[in-house]
Amino acid sequence: MAERFTKSAARNIFYGGSLFFFVTFVALTIHSHYYIRTTSTDEATLSDSVARGKHVWERNACINCHSLLGEGAYFAPELGNVWVRYGGREDAEGARTALIAWMQSQPSGVEGRRQMPQFNLTDAELNDLVDFLEWTSRIDTQGWPPNQAG
Ligand code: HEC
Repeated sequence: MAERFTKSAARNIFYGGSLFFFVTFVALTIHSHYYIRTTSTDEATLSDSVARGKHVWERNACINCHSLLGEGAYFAPELGNVWVRYGGREDAEGARTALIAWMQSQPSGVEGRRQMPQFNLTDAELNDLVDFLEWTSRIDTQGWPPNQAG
């Protein structure tokens, strides 16, 4: 046995194994990108306002308190499904109005309750944000978050 496991056999196993797993890794990466673009997100409805809303989200660092699809801080509610929580699937206009009114009326000042700052966003920024949150709620997260409260 010992004499059959030569140096070149070891080298071939090393190179062969490395190549095999490298190719597997590249194939899985390509598949993930393909899946993200064609299945889990709705790229066709990714409008300018959704992109602008994401920039408003980033400029104001909402992620410092909130999580979005599980990523972010756990000080404030998950917002990946806030659109669904506000009934956006049944009544889109009602959910838009309610979300904007919520953001405009912060901080609530209710004692003992965590507070969200007032960001003084313009109507356009608020609408873009809602478009972004609405679009995000349609990402196929395979069941995340596990309940409506996030
Ligand atoms: C300093 C922390 C903080 C930051 C930054 C912050 N929020 Fe909040 N947000 C909160 C807290 C706390 C609540 C829950 C308050 C409550 O329930 O009274 C909340 C609640 C919300 C809600 C309602 C959630 C629900 O389920 O009712 C929305 C929508 C929201 N935030 C949007 C945003 C957006 C958009 C931004 C960025 C522009 C942002 N927040 C930035 C702290 C923050």
